[in-house]
Amino acid sequence: PSETGRVLSIQSHTVQGYVGNKSAVFPLQLLGYDVDPINSVQFSNHTGYPSFKGQVLNGQQLWDLIEGLEANDLLYYTHLLTGYIGSVSFLNTVLDVVSKLRSINPKLTYVCDPVLGDEGKLYVPQELVTVYRERVVPIASMLTPNQFEAELLTGLRIQSEEDGREACNSIHAAGPSKVVITSINVDGNLLLIGSHLKEKGNPPKQFKIAIPKIPAYFTGTGDLMTALLLGWSNKHPDNLEKAAELAVSSLRALLQRTLDDYKSAGHDPKSSSLEIRLIQSQDDIRSPQITFKAEIY
Ligand code: ATP
Ligand code: PLP
Ligand code: MG
Ligand code: NA
Ligand code: MG
Repeated sequence: PSETGRVLSIQSHTVQGYVGNKSAVFPLQLLGYDVDPINSVQFSNHTGYPSFKGQVLNGQQLWDLIEGLEANDLLYYTHLLTGYIGSVSFLNTVLDVVSKLRSINPKLTYVCDPVLGDEGKLYVPQELVTVYRERVVPIASMLTPNQFEAELLTGLRIQSEEDGREACNSIHAAGPSKVVITSINVDGNLLLIGSHLKEKGNPPKQFKIAIPKIPAYFTGTGDLMTALLLGWSNKHPDNLEKAAELAVSSLRALLQRTLDDYKSAGHDPKSSSLEIRLIQSQDDIRSPQITFKAEIY
């Protein structure tokens, strides 16, 4: 069965390039979802460039859009997806949005990418960490932190795959029944760790996928990864490892294409962050060849 749904996606918009909603909306549409984007910021380009300009939506402006939808009975969603959020006031309004959507659809799935930082560096204000830990994580259905974010949210140090599994257990105890730590770095190798708590009281079903590291820096891949995990885990609700295999396999094909295109255009892929070849990879998103297998623990 090809389960689909209607997704409210609250993320960044960039005029040029693919991060935030620009890297999440198109793939979800390709997988058959109706996607309604709310742009939390509108920037000329992503923040990895030497400069950027644009506008930031505040919490009240977000709430205005929600009220507009509600006034016309347009607030029925199967999924809420959130990514980078820059301020406590906006995050507090997102919490209100979750309550409002769940008052209309109690079965709403909230997929939260708790974007806080990467590789030891925080890129949101420090006070957001507490709000995520205390108020957002407990109401999320699925969480997709990276290694650093999982550490910040659990207070655990992650240096091995066992540590990664422990962090997933700790996140389950806080609320989410599905957790994907999108990568942990163990001895220079990338590992995705997934965990599905099917029934409270029983141990979660856990797995890993080894991801060969490509020597280049991409932007928008975290946002794409979470969107693909939403899309596939909804189609395979009882098989998170299959969803992760599909997501990683799509991503891999896209990253390889991105790398090849930059190289044939004469660019050094190590010298700057690469814009992903999202549109060119639509076949790999719609029907990925599984090239990465999960190993169940
Ligand atoms: P994480 O860093 O934990 O993967 P993130 O939210 O910081 O999560 P990204 O760093 O963009 O997001 O990574 C998301 C996914 O993209 C990874 O799971 C991996 O599959 C893929 N990916 C990103 N960069 C690389 C790379 N250099 N080599 C191989 N895979 C990559
Ligand atoms: N949103 C905006 C506005 C950005 O500038 C960036 C990265 O520069 C991202 C999101 C992050 O993208 P990702 O973590 O998916 O690489
Ligand atoms: Mg990362
Ligand atoms: Na992530
Ligand atoms: Mg990320």
